[in-house]
Amino acid sequence: MYTLPELKQDKDFDSIAIMTSGGDAPGMNPAIRGVVRAALSQGIKVYGIQRGYSGLIADDMSTLQSGSVSNIVQRGGTVLKTDRCTAFKDPAVRAAAAEILRRRGIGALVVIGGDGSLTGAHLLQQETGIPVIGIPGTIDNDIFGTEDTIGFDTAVNTALEAIDRIRDTATSHERHFLVEVMGRASGSIAINVGMAAGAEMILVPERAIDVAAISSELAASRRAGTGSSGIIVVAEGPTPGLTSRLAEQLREQGQDPRVCILGHIQRGGSPSGHDRVLATCMGAMAVRYLCAGYSDIMVGVRDGSIIDVPLDDVIRFRKGLDPSLLDMALQVHR
Ligand code: F6P
Repeated sequence: MYTLPELKQDKDFDSIAIMTSGGDAPGMNPAIRGVVRAALSQGIKVYGIQRGYSGLIADDMSTLQSGSVSNIVQRGGTVLKTDRCTAFKDPAVRAAAAEILRRRGIGALVVIGGDGSLTGAHLLQQETGIPVIGIPGTIDNDIFGTEDTIGFDTAVNTALEAIDRIRDTATSHERHFLVEVMGRASGSIAINVGMAAGAEMILVPERAIDVAAISSELAASRRAGTGSSGIIVVAEGPTPGLTSRLAEQLREQGQDPRVCILGHIQRGGSPSGHDRVLATCMGAMAVRYLCAGYSDIMVGVRDGSIIDVPLDDVIRFRKGLDPSLLDMALQVHR
């Protein structure tokens, strides 16, 4: 459970709009529900925008009632659909989007998404004055200013369940598996999944990969009779195909690993209890922040408390993995 900030009602809104944007994440639906129910309880009308910024610039939205968000808390994906909208990078398109919101009398926008989506929200606010609140929704947990993002916990557990199964066949066949998890710029999923799965090695974008060292370690543990099989968790990293290339290189060194790329399976499925609670709190707090006169912020979590983080900081700074956590994880899992 979270400690909530004390906020004073300072602003009235007739209507607000909500969207989900970028890669979907389990828990986006409970976040939508949190926003809608909290807003309706204040007498605020809520427009649900379809397919993120693409739907906004196409004026594709409709009002949501309390019943519109019934029975969605347990569903993966997002009922509002989502998109990665490159057109929104154009300031003229953002100006047109603000006009659409104003024409409908929409006083503020809540955006649930990752760093690209939150950047769009920040620029919209800066250039047009439309109040915005961001909610961090991404399985990657790579957003500055918040310890947790919606979908991360579910994705870790989904990958973990898969790896537990892979472990069975790896053991029977005395094989090593390279299991790729998501995380282009961050090893956050890999570290958490690797630790929880008791992986033999964890490879993350934050640390260079030494193929020869991995190969000799595998050979040595095989010789010593301590590692006839094992799991190497690999974060996908910025360049597609990393894990397959790594397997190829290991084969050239005399190893015979199998590859399993978990991919988008990590983005689907029913959100965990943790993600449902996090998303519900963040959704409801987004409305409270708006009504307290906040704008251009993201709802975040720190030390068990819900906090507000300036969107300017969110997009300017990179969230790194704690180096000592990384060292500890890599020490245990090798
Ligand atoms: O941003 C979340 C994320 O899941 C990344 O980890 C992954 O690299 C990417 O999305 C995949 O995105 P797409 O849906 O465009 O394939």
